[in-house]
Amino acid sequence: MRPLIRTACLRARVRAMATLPTTAAFSSTRAPSPCPSPSRARRLLFAARFLPSAPPPPAGARAFRTSAAAAEAAVEVGGVKIAREDVVKEDDPTNNVPDTIYSKIGLQLHRRDNHPLGILKNTIYDYFDKSFPGQFVKFDDLCPLVSTKQNFDDVLVPADHVSRSYNDTYYVDSQTVLRCHTSAHQAELLREGHRHFLVIGDVYRRDSIDSTHYPVFHQVTVFPRLYLNVFKTRYVMNSIDLSRIQMEGFRVFSPDDWSGSGMDGTAYAATDLKKTLEGLATHLFGAVEMRWVDTYFPFTNPSFELEIYFQGDWLEVLGCGVTEQEILKSNGRTDHVAWAFGLGLERLAMVLFDIPDIRLFWSNDQRFTSQFSKGKLGVKFKPFSKFPPCYKDMSFWINDEFTENNLCEVVRGIAGDLVEEVKLIDNFTNKKGMTSHCYRIAYRSMERSLTDEEINDMQWNVREEVKSKLRVELR
Ligand code: PHE
Repeated sequence: MRPLIRTACLRARVRAMATLPTTAAFSSTRAPSPCPSPSRARRLLFAARFLPSAPPPPAGARAFRTSAAAAEAAVEVGGVKIAREDVVKEDDPTNNVPDTIYSKIGLQLHRRDNHPLGILKNTIYDYFDKSFPGQFVKFDDLCPLVSTKQNFDDVLVPADHVSRSYNDTYYVDSQTVLRCHTSAHQAELLREGHRHFLVIGDVYRRDSIDSTHYPVFHQVTVFPRLYLNVFKTRYVMNSIDLSRIQMEGFRVFSPDDWSGSGMDGTAYAATDLKKTLEGLATHLFGAVEMRWVDTYFPFTNPSFELEIYFQGDWLEVLGCGVTEQEILKSNGRTDHVAWAFGLGLERLAMVLFDIPDIRLFWSNDQRFTSQFSKGKLGVKFKPFSKFPPCYKDMSFWINDEFTENNLCEVVRGIAGDLVEEVKLIDNFTNKKGMTSHCYRIAYRSMERSLTDEEINDMQWNVREEVKSKLRVELR
């Protein structure tokens, strides 16, 4: 098993944090795209297949011995080939992308019409097509590799915001990340002249397994928030897959639009935004009670969240707001106003289709996939698996570098889809100032019974890797 967390690299990454690129480091507004260009990908493929002297793969690329294999294994997003070595760079201390994350790139569940996420996406498209005929342009296969400028600077994320850390974001190198939100495309699409657009795509964030037990992002309390809590639900959100599908909506107004309204541009946009999104919520959930909650995002002001009362609970549906003037000005829309919203498709699909575990979205099991069909929103999922979970506890003295995200990455690297939850169940500091954590790991397959032997093997490997990679002292 390839080590996923390399302690030395982690240290280098933590150190590198101090010198992460800031806004000032970017002088031009049009940075080159970090996506491998189609022509480069084609050249690579050609070289790999036909030239015996094609350059060898990086020394660390163990899973793909030859560049031919690497090129063939490349995934395609919007006509762009992304090879493992474009994303997972084991010898680069500024890279923290594991194979479990690379394996999610290119799946594009939202582009499958018979998949709950595709069905939901199409239903949202229908709403915008009906409400604004011919106006919203849709982008559902933009490359998820973006520059730190696109992901953070272009949407005014402060240079010292915690979301930029290696603990929270997957870095391909110091200037390239797997996008954390679809807002990363706002600026480029504005510069291309678009005024109404929807962007749907996979987004990636490092997070603990089963976020439901850690309902507050630390950045919410320490820093102004960057993201909507789209990764959280009251369902099982655990797992291997810290990638989610997100949708961004954006609409620009010119002075002509609001001049006769008696409102200023901001009030006009905020009113239109709320009306549009209330309509969307009704389109998806029927006649539900709704409420608007004031919030903060760096890229919008004012900012809001829409919540609906559904099945006895207030459910956060989306985050939105009136776009900061600076974003419009920097991208060719001086004197305009705009609104933007972002929503997470999984949490809504889980509620609408009654899907109890996010891992099911990635399942190819016929018993899951055959239950959904094009155009049928809200068909209730009938669970086919009630296999019992198996719990294993482990305790250790933590060190200063310890983070839960790193622990989860180790567990995920070993148990993959079979880990359902990693939960802190005990925590104390002794007289010498040493802090002990006890974690309970729940293993469970959605598809079959696990044997004692394989669980014990996994747990043994987890203990060994936690000890060696995280340098903690097992108790
Ligand atoms: N980008 C935000 C997130 O990832 C969502 C959002 C988009 C909020 C646009 C406001 C406006 O959670």
